[in-house]
Order: sequence, then C-alpha cells, then structure tokens
Amino acid sequence: MITFPKDFLWGSSTSGPQSEGRLPDDGKGDNTWDYWFKQEPQKFHNQVGPELTSTFYEHYEKDLDYLVETGHTAFRTSIQWSRLIPDGDGEVNDKAIAFYRNVFEGVKARGIELLVNLYHFDLPMCLEEKGGWINRSTVDAYERYARICFEAFGDIVDRWITFNEPIVPVECGYFYQLHYPATVDPKAGIQVAFHTQLASSLAVKACHEVGSDYKIGIVLNLTPAYPRSQHPADLKAARIAELFQAKSFLDPSVKGEYPEELVELIKAHDLLPDYQEDDLRVIKENCVDYLGVNYYQPLRVAATKHLANPEAPFFPSVYFDHYEMPGRKMNPHRGWEIYEQGVYDIARDIKENYGNIEWILTENGMGVEGEEKFRENGMIQDDYRIDFIKDHLRELHKAIEEGANCKGYLLWTFIDCWSWLNSYKNRYGLVELDLKDQSRKIKKSGKWFKELSQNNGF
Ligand code: BG6
Repeated sequence: MITFPKDFLWGSSTSGPQSEGRLPDDGKGDNTWDYWFKQEPQKFHNQVGPELTSTFYEHYEKDLDYLVETGHTAFRTSIQWSRLIPDGDGEVNDKAIAFYRNVFEGVKARGIELLVNLYHFDLPMCLEEKGGWINRSTVDAYERYARICFEAFGDIVDRWITFNEPIVPVECGYFYQLHYPATVDPKAGIQVAFHTQLASSLAVKACHEVGSDYKIGIVLNLTPAYPRSQHPADLKAARIAELFQAKSFLDPSVKGEYPEELVELIKAHDLLPDYQEDDLRVIKENCVDYLGVNYYQPLRVAATKHLANPEAPFFPSVYFDHYEMPGRKMNPHRGWEIYEQGVYDIARDIKENYGNIEWILTENGMGVEGEEKFRENGMIQDDYRIDFIKDHLRELHKAIEEGANCKGYLLWTFIDCWSWLNSYKNRYGLVELDLKDQSRKIKKSGKWFKELSQNNGF
C-alpha cells in the first residue's frame, strides 16, 4: 500500500472555456476561440466549437455532486475573462459574478478545496482586436480583471492561479499556428511571453494587496527535456530546449528573474521584447506562493541534423530536433509518450533548483480517442487510465518520500471536456459525457478514484 501524506489533495482540473458552454442570454462576450470557430470551423475536430462543451453553466449543481461521487477533496476550474468582463476592459457582467459565486459556494459547501485559475488560453476578442498580448494595454486590462476577481471571490477561493501553461499560447499562437492569431511571428511571440509574465507578476502583487493571506501561483507545463545521449551536442540541445520550454516562465515566476543564458540567446537573434525598467522590479518582487505543474509527456530532443536557414523566421527549435526514443512507451489512443519518471524528475528539479517551493500536480491524465469501444455492461472500463494514474503516483510518492514538497494530485479531468482544436476527440474524464444528450456516466476510473481518495493511497 502506498500512502500519501495527511491532507494530500485528490481531485481534478478543468477550465471555464472547456466546460461551461454558452446560453443566449448569459452576457458572455466572445473570446478568441468563439471568434475563430465562427471564422474557420473546419480547423476544429468534427467542427465542434466552444459554445457547446459540457454545459457546466447550466448543470453545475449536478456536476458538483459528481465531484463528491468521485472522491474529490480539491477542484480546479477557471473564470472566463470574457464572461466576467465581456469586452475585456469595461463593464462587469453581473450574471457572471452570480454564476461563479454559486459554483464556488457549491464547491466549498461540499467540503472541497477550491483552486481558481484566471486565464486558460482565453483572451476576450475585443482585446485581441487591439493587438492582444502584443499590446501592453492587455497587461493593464488583465491586472484590472484579476483585481476584480480577487475582490469578488477572494473570501471563498483557497488558491488562485494567474495563468495555465502560458508558454502554450506563445508557441501555438505565434509559431505553430494552432491558437489564434495563428501567425508565424517570433518577435511578437517573445513580446507576448514577456507581457504574460509581467501580467502574472502584477496579479500576484494585486492578490497580496487585496488579501495579505491569499495564496497565488502559476500553472506550468514542466516537461523535462531529455537529451538523446550524453554527447555534448545533445546535452546542449536539451539545455536550450528547456530554457525556452520551461525556464522562460519558471525562473521569473519562482526566482523573480530570467535565466541569463535565455536572455543572451534572445538578444543574439535581436528579439528582445520592449519593456520598461520598472517591469523587471515588478517581476523580481512578486514571486508566486506555490507552483502548479502539468505533466503529460516528456520532451525528448537531440542536436539538430541541419543548420538553420538564416533567412527563415526564428524558431527555438533551431537549437534542437524533437527526438523519438526507440522503444518508448506510448499511449496509443492519443499518440503521446508515457514516461512516469518525468514526475519524479520534475519534483527533484523543484527541490534542488527552486527552493523546494510548495507545488501541486495540477494536470496529468490519459486522453483516449474512441473511448466508447471500452464500454462493457454500460460502463467505460478504463483500466488503462487507472494504471496510468497509479504508475505516475508511484513516482510522485517516491519523490515525496525523498522530500518533495508536493501537496496534491489533480487529474485532467472530471467530466470529459472540450479541448481547443481537438474538441471532444481525446476523452480524459472520470465521468463520461454523451455529447448527443449531455448525459453523464461515471467510468470505472471514477469509482476507483473515490477509493484512492478515501484511502489516501492505493
Ligand atoms: C493541457 C491543457 O495541456 O492539455 C488542457 O491545459 C487540454 O486545456 C489538455 O485540454 C489535453 O489536450 P488534448 O489536446 O489532448 O485534448
């Protein structure tokens, strides 16, 4: 039996844009996903857009009961900026205030710890039209939005989160064309990354001003970068990949400053962002209270095979090639590598290099395409998911035994939810969602997760 420390948190994460859905009179404004879906629905899997999702906006009371039925002692969701302030920077939507208050009170009434994220890839479209995160005014608008949230819900939220995986909109929006504005513009991407970090640090400051005992963190996807071999060129590739992928937000958020080597690399490409002298002081003085870590798969890299084309736009990957390790273990239903030891390695890195700051594993999970094929006797028999969770928990447990300061495990996710361009392709939930009639059914993993939580281990 593997037993976790007393008061270890067991639960799951979701986000507003992926679960709430929309009603015609709910007062929500468009975010970039709403807009993009209207423009280019063919980009979204099966043309299922963000307005549908799992209708949490209407069914939250019943859905919160599923949290209890699946053993949650913690739950993480996000406020949609475009629901709270439809144009991003103007009037507050009273219906949104009432909705989130009801949801948050419902979570607390069930004895569940509440983590609330302010931003899960969902910029209000009105702000995107003015340049989005490239434009410094978005930082000011975000700070105002964050302060409104702290004032409205600070009495009831246990832990705040400034951003979820902030590197993802940078990579996907300005390099790989998978998030709006879907451009290839490295200069803009680096400006967006800097403004996002500044906004996060300003939110930390505002949070502590509103409530000196409020706790606020950031959620980062900290996949370690594993080199193909110990050859110096492979090691260098891994170090640089990690600088861009993880340390670009980890260091300023936890240590208050950017790694020197990253700054030098960006300078060498003449891509330093515009900033004001005081910004660096704001970042220095407003580090997070704790970290959220999302981990799904490792990043494996090798030295590049080819020299970069000097005329091509800059990509961080001019310094590394992605590498498929022979014999890697795969999740065949999603196409991602499974490497449980990544959790242990992240824990060790945080312990050794980031002051052993308190952290929570805020996302881990197994996406499965075509999951209905695993239904037997009316229930999805997702033993693969139970094994996936157990295998990762073994590594986490080992790290905690060795002193890692991890306070909880949150699975992605509790009810199958909508996911950006992949829509409902990959199912991750403890609870199955039938898109046709919006009915919910607990999967085998949901029942098992309750036992896991009750036993505080397995
Ligand atoms: C995480 C994101 O990185 O991956 C979630 O924070 C997302 O928002 C999840 O839903 C799963 O992604 P996908 O592409 O497998 O559906």
